[in-house]
Amino acid sequence: MNADELKRAAAAEALKSVESGMALGLGTGSTVRHLVDLLGEEIRSGRLSDIVGVPTSVKTENQAVEVGIPLIELGSRTELDLTIDGADEVAPGLDLIKGLGAALLREKMVAQASRRLIIISDDSKIVSKLGTRVPLPVEVVDWSLEALKTFIESTGAEAQLRLDSSGKAVRSDNGNVFLDARYPVGLEDAVALEAELLHRAGIVDTGLFLGMAEAAVIASPEGVYTLTPESHIPLLS
Ligand code: A5P
Repeated sequence: MNADELKRAAAAEALKSVESGMALGLGTGSTVRHLVDLLGEEIRSGRLSDIVGVPTSVKTENQAVEVGIPLIELGSRTELDLTIDGADEVAPGLDLIKGLGAALLREKMVAQASRRLIIISDDSKIVSKLGTRVPLPVEVVDWSLEALKTFIESTGAEAQLRLDSSGKAVRSDNGNVFLDARYPVGLEDAVALEAELLHRAGIVDTGLFLGMAEAAVIASPEGVYTLTPESHIPLLS
């Protein structure tokens, strides 16, 4: 299976957790794209009914509308039943780095409004320590960027403004920009770092999703398996 087929396999497996009547958080990214596609098929065929979704980005919203998933706004239900989303790193305890797709803020808002969060991914995202595969995305207001960069670098990182292929700053759907923070040996204490970053005015949110996921459905060439926070991550065996 190629990388895209693995992503689809993880999405198909996670879809088995979706039941008629659920209010779902719909993540963002190339893995969730498969989920939205497959969920649309289930709804159109009538195998799933009375489903509503809350998209975490304009991109997911557009796709959900295309495939016929009824959408609601966050807040119109007290709680969502389940959110399914991708990740950029999956570490032991199912601590995550997300946000390379520029949707981390809405993703975290939706995940926090959900009773359950399930991650879907191929096995390339599994790490033994956060921050060793990808930089930590930090969403910041677009003002006084040098000051924010200096602050983030004071936590031990090298921070870089994320640019698109034409050299323009990448913006979230909320109009903010990203300083991607690379920590040379990964994150020693993600909980403390998250608190320190979030305390700083101008930092809107970070891509750290700590203690939030109840399961990660991982597709590997050997098959699809599910990790829980207590699981022994296979790569580390
Ligand atoms: C979006 O902001 C991210 O958090 C995505 O969930 C993450 O980048 C995973 O995307 P892929 O499924 O495309 O790898």
